[in-house]
Amino acid sequence: MSSPAEPTAPADEATTVATQAASTATTEAAALANPLRDPRDKRLPRVAGPCVLVLFGVTGDLAKRKLLPAIYDLGNRGLLPPGFSLVGFARRDWKNQDFARVAHDAIKEHARTPFREEVWRQLREGIHFVPGEFSDDGAFDALAMALKEIDQTRGTGGNYAFYLSIPPKFFPQVVQQLKRTGLANAPKGAWRRVVIEKPFGHDLKSAQELNEITSQVFPESSVFRIDHYLGKETVQNILALRFANNLFEPIWNRGYVDHVQITMAEDIGIGGRAGYYDGIGAARDVIQNHLLQLLALVAMEDPTSFDADALRREKEKVLKAVRLPQDLALGTARGRYTAGWQGGERVRGYLEEDGIPADSTTETYAAIKLEIANRRWAGVPFYLRTGKRLGRRVTEVAVVFQRAPHLPFSKDDTEILGQNALVVRVQPDEGITVRFGSKVPGTAMEVRDVSMDFAYGESFLESSPEAYERLLLDVLIGDPPLFPHQREVELSWRILDPIEEFWATQGPPEDYPAGSWGPASADAMMARDGRVWRRL
Ligand code: BG6
Repeated sequence: MSSPAEPTAPADEATTVATQAASTATTEAAALANPLRDPRDKRLPRVAGPCVLVLFGVTGDLAKRKLLPAIYDLGNRGLLPPGFSLVGFARRDWKNQDFARVAHDAIKEHARTPFREEVWRQLREGIHFVPGEFSDDGAFDALAMALKEIDQTRGTGGNYAFYLSIPPKFFPQVVQQLKRTGLANAPKGAWRRVVIEKPFGHDLKSAQELNEITSQVFPESSVFRIDHYLGKETVQNILALRFANNLFEPIWNRGYVDHVQITMAEDIGIGGRAGYYDGIGAARDVIQNHLLQLLALVAMEDPTSFDADALRREKEKVLKAVRLPQDLALGTARGRYTAGWQGGERVRGYLEEDGIPADSTTETYAAIKLEIANRRWAGVPFYLRTGKRLGRRVTEVAVVFQRAPHLPFSKDDTEILGQNALVVRVQPDEGITVRFGSKVPGTAMEVRDVSMDFAYGESFLESSPEAYERLLLDVLIGDPPLFPHQREVELSWRILDPIEEFWATQGPPEDYPAGSWGPASADAMMARDGRVWRRL
């Protein structure tokens, strides 16, 4: 496997670099003038330099709902350079204007920030479309030509990010085409990056094979793996909460923490994604990536800096220390939704969804108990759960503390007092809640739980950017800390593979009605430990 380093700008590229610098300065000025900025913030905004984003899979749901709107939102916040260009590539008989229309409609429907005609007009000037199949050499030659022309007309300096928003089975073809056409190789002074979306494989072996394919063409430093949870403000805030404060860290360990619950509950079913979801299931879909990343951020030691290397190393250490339950039958649970009621509507069961085979054994709910074998966490269980068609949409990390060692109250007075908890609400109602006991007014000394709340909406002027805004900007800037390294991907599969292998011997998952909180076996798993899942 070759791992060439990214080239840096030599002196003879001075003109290009100067043009790029001027363009970046203009972009920074525009970003500073953004009326949505907090006026107290005098730092220069992080803005992208001249570049082209090439999007494979423009007709997909992700492009329409997330990527195209995020590009517009970045433009609207003044974070894209004036010559920024967007090239769509897909198997459609489209012209530039057809792609522009699709982008326009997607932006109007899904962008976070208000639609401004002048921002759209500027973006529109840089929109191009190249039709073709991934197997078609001619189409990729046309792509290379188009990019050259864009460099000349829009000053994008040969800097290209290739976003593969396509099923992984097409990665080999596309990556090979980028190699064949020379598009994967940056000329001096320019950069080339490839962005890949999960799933990063189906298990450890396929993840390694997938990596082999990209690493033959792109150096690791040019590969950006998207786990969109890391782009969420609330997820990054776990690092701020833990490492910018002195209040929580002293109690963030086995001496005080009883257990941790990480929940990603969704009210939606699988919608039109049967082709992707069946055979994958809840654990591969979100535990292998989003939930294990959350666990890593909650449990890792403090990194020496927020450099990609330092951050990833700490996450890797903790993922390496994760231990599975000795008895997987007792320490995991699996479920599949049946018909039920949600939001006042009757909804179908998983097996009745379009495209799901009658003999499917795919789980739509998974719960796993993990432990972390290190000094900080020995003996503290981390309970992870996720499911579709649950009671409501909520993602949170709850650090539940041990009970006070002694309660100098009468038993009656503390009868309904729960355990202290610090809850990071990832979504919705983003914020942090601390739950603790308080005296009930008017009683002699009755104590019950109350909450102290921090809500993003109340403390900050600007609404949080979408995860994809942050991640796309980081790709264009070339800032890798929020992108998992291949080593993290492999470590996560090492955790999940034995569980999947065990489940594969167990027949279909247990039923749970849509709109409920999952299968009874998940509650039983907690009850065996004398605990309950948080009510959400
Ligand atoms: C994706 C999963 O990664 O995350 C989906 O493939 C899931 O199944 C989605 O619905 C949830 O993302 P979010 O940001 O809405 O929590």
